[in-house]
Amino acid sequence: MTDPAAAIPTAAAAPTVYIETFGCQMNVLDTQLVRGQLQALGYRFIDDWKQADVILYNTCSVREQAENKALSRVGEVGMLKKERPGVVLGVIGCMAERDGVDMTRRHPQIDLICGPGELDKVPMLIDNVMKTDPKRRGGKFNAQVALQGNMHRRSSTLAAAEDQLEMLDLSRSFDPDEHKGSAYVRITRGCNKFCTYCVVPMTRGAEVHRPPDHIVEECRKLVESGVVEVTLLGQTVNHYHYDHAAAVTINGLQQPQVGSVVNLSSPLSRGEKVRERAGVRASSSSITSFAELLARIHDEVPALRRLRFVTNFPRDFGDDILQVMRDSPRICRYLHLPVQSGSNRMLKLMNRGYEVREYRDLIDRARAFLPDVQIATDIICGFPTETEEDHAATVELLKYCRFKNAFIFKYSPRPGTAAIDRFEDDVPDDVKRRRNNELLALQIDISGQVHAACVGQTVRVFVESISEHSQRELDGGLPGSGSTVSLGWQKPQRVTQLTGRTDGDLIVCFDGDASMIGSIVEVKIERSAPLTLFGRVEQVSAASR
Ligand code: SAH
Ligand code: SF4
Ligand code: F3S
Repeated sequence: MTDPAAAIPTAAAAPTVYIETFGCQMNVLDTQLVRGQLQALGYRFIDDWKQADVILYNTCSVREQAENKALSRVGEVGMLKKERPGVVLGVIGCMAERDGVDMTRRHPQIDLICGPGELDKVPMLIDNVMKTDPKRRGGKFNAQVALQGNMHRRSSTLAAAEDQLEMLDLSRSFDPDEHKGSAYVRITRGCNKFCTYCVVPMTRGAEVHRPPDHIVEECRKLVESGVVEVTLLGQTVNHYHYDHAAAVTINGLQQPQVGSVVNLSSPLSRGEKVRERAGVRASSSSITSFAELLARIHDEVPALRRLRFVTNFPRDFGDDILQVMRDSPRICRYLHLPVQSGSNRMLKLMNRGYEVREYRDLIDRARAFLPDVQIATDIICGFPTETEEDHAATVELLKYCRFKNAFIFKYSPRPGTAAIDRFEDDVPDDVKRRRNNELLALQIDISGQVHAACVGQTVRVFVESISEHSQRELDGGLPGSGSTVSLGWQKPQRVTQLTGRTDGDLIVCFDGDASMIGSIVEVKIERSAPLTLFGRVEQVSAASR
């Protein structure tokens, strides 16, 4: 492999890159980091994949369907390469890690693959490919590969790789245009839960917690660059814990830390102020818990208007987190708490580590602390051996929890997981589909009631974008809505339908002007649909400007 510095293209060459993202928010953040890295080296990003010199797909492996989408793109690039053999095709992210080098044998048009744990190497891989004669590629050419493979769950090798990844997070761009007011910040990488159906522990590796000082600093810099809302990311955010006693400092930087099993229902804490706020038991230990991290960000970055976090794991969700949320007005009243099933038997086969009773108890505790909290969930239906009785238990749970919405998935067997080895995928697809539809219909009904209860209220909305479905112009004569409106704080030129989210993550549509995007406004809710609220702007929140 070559020196990464050699990856700097000359200004005259300025290769163009197209990048497309599949999968979760973690991948969206990874794409931003890769993009920032390439931009700093002079690469130029374009929206038309057919014109690009480099095409990158940042992929997801969580369900077969997600992989098929990326594979169909890979097929299209194969066709393009017949006319333009010099195009560089890279598959990065979870699918690259899961499928490994086999993927490049089956799809020889792929020039490079790179797993999520090696993304700092993308510029070097591209550079290596570009130095190879296109005629050799697709023939005897060995694609450039950066994967962690089986090594990625071993702590000795992990440390070195994670240092590089920490640098990637730390070197992110703070360009105001990039974030449009909202940014993701990673707090934990990887996952140690090994739910039997899930590829993530294999693709993302062992759980590693980032140093709290780095996280707080990143939030501060984002806010200074105009960010209004930060969403903290981790597969199990509430398991965040950083042991300062074990921290190693290299070149003045604290190093990320490999997770160990910790019981967060009796959290250990550091920092008197936070401990007092969270009511956390005093201890001689020096662990920063998730509750303390939240409190630190809230208190140490006072200009941050909104702090959110995803995804929570239903086990070990202590009252300390709920207390910090209650006492911190700028932390959103929103919990994404995937339950997966309402049947204890299914939860056991899934290796989720909790029972329905404990989950219901958590929902009750959350609502006792935060009466206005909105809760969303994920459900898998048709997991192996799921009976009508198990399905009925999930129906009951949905009725009890009254989620604001639920992401409902049909079980998809994934290579490399415990479930595919242990259980036959024995629920027929039509049964999976019927159960999925039943749960969906019930949830739409519940979501409709949750949304209807907001009519008449005035809610704070973070404005995200122009509404896709119902753009319209009231002042006539101007070209397509949004396309000519700058994001400066100029006098409104036109009225457009905008969309945004409340503190509780409810989607709101309202008329406004595009200059509101990226700010927080107060909206009076006038009517509702099952998944959307509609209202009228009362005022633009002063501090958001
Ligand atoms: N870390 C998060 C979720 C990560 S994956 C958590 O534990 O909750 C996002 C969602 O995809 C999961 O919550 C689950 O509902 C779904 N999912 C994961 N693997 C799946 C599979 N093999 N088949 C169907 N859905 C799956
Ligand atoms: Fe997958 Fe379970 Fe980890 Fe979530 S907690 S990422 S579902 S293994
Ligand atoms: Fe998919 Fe990887 Fe995220 S498998 S859901 S992109 S962690």
